[in-house]
Amino acid sequence: MDLSKITEIFTESVIREMTRIAHQYPGCINLAQGFPDFPAPEPIKDAAIKAIKEDINQYSITWGSESLRNAIADKVARYNKMDFVEADKNITVTCGSTEAMISSMKAIINPKDEVIIFEPFYENYGPDCLLSGAIPRYIKLYSPEWTFDFDELEVSFNEKTKAIILNTPNNPTGKVFTEKELKFIVDLCLNYDCIAMTDEIYEHILYDDHKHISIASFPEMENNSITINSISKSYSLTGWRVGWAIASERITAEIKKVHDFLTVGAPAPLQEAAAFALSLGDEYYTRLRDFYQKARDKLYNALKNTDLQPIKPGGAYYMMTNCEEYMKNYELKNSMDLAIHLVKRLGIVTVPGSSFYANPEDGQFQTRFCFCKKDETLQAASQKLVKIRS
Ligand SMILES: Cc1ncc(COP(=O)(O)O)c(C=O)c1O
Repeated sequence: MDLSKITEIFTESVIREMTRIAHQYPGCINLAQGFPDFPAPEPIKDAAIKAIKEDINQYSITWGSESLRNAIADKVARYNKMDFVEADKNITVTCGSTEAMISSMKAIINPKDEVIIFEPFYENYGPDCLLSGAIPRYIKLYSPEWTFDFDELEVSFNEKTKAIILNTPNNPTGKVFTEKELKFIVDLCLNYDCIAMTDEIYEHILYDDHKHISIASFPEMENNSITINSISKSYSLTGWRVGWAIASERITAEIKKVHDFLTVGAPAPLQEAAAFALSLGDEYYTRLRDFYQKARDKLYNALKNTDLQPIKPGGAYYMMTNCEEYMKNYELKNSMDLAIHLVKRLGIVTVPGSSFYANPEDGQFQTRFCFCKKDETLQAASQKLVKIRS
């Protein structure tokens, strides 16, 4: 019996596979999948418990509870300068940004439409394209600054281009797209009437003087953008599965339909707690930023004296490393060999660079560390890294 020809051509997530590998090596430190190992904020947990006790336990309105959609509209007007967003017209609450992305793609793509993706990319975007019938076209981000070539991007746009996927701040590179880069993308989107799908889940995790800009804040992008976000990273709640997509009323009407038939709705009591989370003041985000700035610097300092050469991220909580020298010394053939070697030799789990590229060869000398971890976890990792100082 034939099963789906589409699912046949992609594998399960390598990132999540590395967490399963971590479980096979007791005592190892999992710096692979991006989830915090510290407690989620107490007041948000209390808000969820209160909602459950108040019996907000049945389906919410399928496209999201009123309180959460109001909180999202307030927050994006305040932080992202997205003034057009109305709770009833422009928001679909989903099961995480993962569902927001696939629902949005299903809502806009026709078979053989092209979607531009910056590479290296968060690995979900490949299967998202395949599942929605789109043909992905990749544009390289060049290390160490992770800049792209404006001409290369321009020639990749054509009449078949339906969307471009942006992720800023970016996983895995930590790149934060600049205003100049975004403006260039805005002009291309408008010239070719295509949609910028922007995954902004790391919007509050920024270092040094980097600033987050939402492409939907350019007034001319109201009808040509889908902004995707969730509570996973900003509030350390990756297991709650609450996210959203923001778009024009016309696009939102289609996303709502896909979402309704895919999942019906996100968890109702957790939506109430998410509404509370979104009402937190600036102080919360300043603390989050300071915490991650220290974590980034700690991991960077531990890696910089090794042959796993770190590239400093401007945002998000990952660090890509170039490991060519190290791999030569140990005769390691590819990034999966390297990741397995690091688990066995050091007891540190990372994500092989190849999983972020369409052609695995392009990432064969890279591995990604994540640092959304307690200080003591990063301290223990630093001590292990001392063993491989060059
Ligand atoms: C860029 C990016 N988008 C989406 C996700 C998944 O987000 P969510 O938990 O909201 O589904 C991740 C998780 O690591 C990510 O790095």
